[in-house]
Amino acid sequence: MGRLEKKVAIITGSGAGIGKAIATHYAEEGAKVVIVDFNEEALHTTVNELKKAGHEAIGIKVNVAVEEDVAKMVNETVKTFGRVDILVNNAGVGDNMQAAENVKDETWQRVMDINVTGVMRGLRQVIPVFLANGGGTIVNMASISGLTGGRGGLAYTAAKHAVVGMTKNIASQYGPQNIRCNAIAPAHVETGFAATMTNVDEFGMQIATRGLNLLPKAGTIQDISNIAIFLASEESAYINGVTLAADAGWSAY
Ligand SMILES: NC(=O)c1ccc[n+]([C@@H]2O[C@H](COP(=O)([O-])OP(=O)(O)OC[C@H]3O[C@@H](n4cnc5c(N)ncnc54)[C@H](O)[C@@H]3O)[C@@H](O)[C@H]2O)c1
Repeated sequence: MGRLEKKVAIITGSGAGIGKAIATHYAEEGAKVVIVDFNEEALHTTVNELKKAGHEAIGIKVNVAVEEDVAKMVNETVKTFGRVDILVNNAGVGDNMQAAENVKDETWQRVMDINVTGVMRGLRQVIPVFLANGGGTIVNMASISGLTGGRGGLAYTAAKHAVVGMTKNIASQYGPQNIRCNAIAPAHVETGFAATMTNVDEFGMQIATRGLNLLPKAGTIQDISNIAIFLASEESAYINGVTLAADAGWSAY
C-alpha cells in the first residue's frame, strides 16, 4: 500500500521541475493528483504521462497569482475527487538575482504576486475545505533564500522568507484543527528554473554565489520529492510549522 493511498493532492507548478517530480512521486504512492500550471503544454504533457503510467490525474490551467484561478483549482478538485487532502504550494519564479539598488518594480511585483500572494491564495482557498474535512496537509516550497540572506536577489529572498513565515503562521493557527503546514528549503536543484532568468544582475549573482564551492552537490528533483512525500504523509504527523533545509548541509556552515 502506498504512503498516500486514496489521498487527493493538488500540486502547483507541476507541469515541470520539482513540482512535476512531486506529483509523479505522490501518484506512485497512491495519491490522486491534480496537476496545476499556467503553462498549458507542460500541464497536458504531465497529465498524459501520469495517465499512461496508470495513475489518476487531472490537469487545471491556473495562474496562482489570480484569485479566480485558485478558487477554480480547489473547486474543480472537489468536484472531481470529492475532497482535497494535500496542497503543495510549489509554483514560483526567480528575480534575476537583482540586488537592492537594481530592483525593478516589474520584477518585484511579479515575484511577490506569484511567490507570496500565490501561496496566500492557495492557503485561503484550501483551508475552509480542510476544516470541513477534519484536516489536511500543506507543503510550501520555500528556498534556502528563505532561511539565509545572501543566496538570491532582494525580492526572492523577501518572498521566500514570507513563505517560511506563512508556514509557521498556518501551523500555529490551524494546528489544533488537524492542519499541518511545513516547508522545504532547497539549495540548488537542477531544473529549468535558472533558464527562466534573464538579464541576470551581475553584482547580485556574484554575491549570491559566494561560497558556492562549499555546496557539496546540487540536489536532484527526487531529493526534493522524497522530502515532500515525508511531509505530506503520516510519517511526519508530529511535525508542524517547520522549514527543512534541503542543501546537503550548505547552510549549516
Ligand atoms: N530549482 C532550484 O534550484 C530551486 C531552489 C530553491 C527553491 N526552488 C523553488 O522550487 C519551486 C519550483 O521550482 P523549479 O526549479 O521546479 O522551477 P521550474 O521553472 O522548473 O518549474 C516551475 C513550474 O511552475 C510553473 N509556474 C510558474 N509560475 C506559475 C504561476 N504563476 N502559476 C502556475 N504555474 C506557475 C511553471 O510554468 C513551471 O512549470 C519554486 O517555488 C522555486 O522558487 C527552486
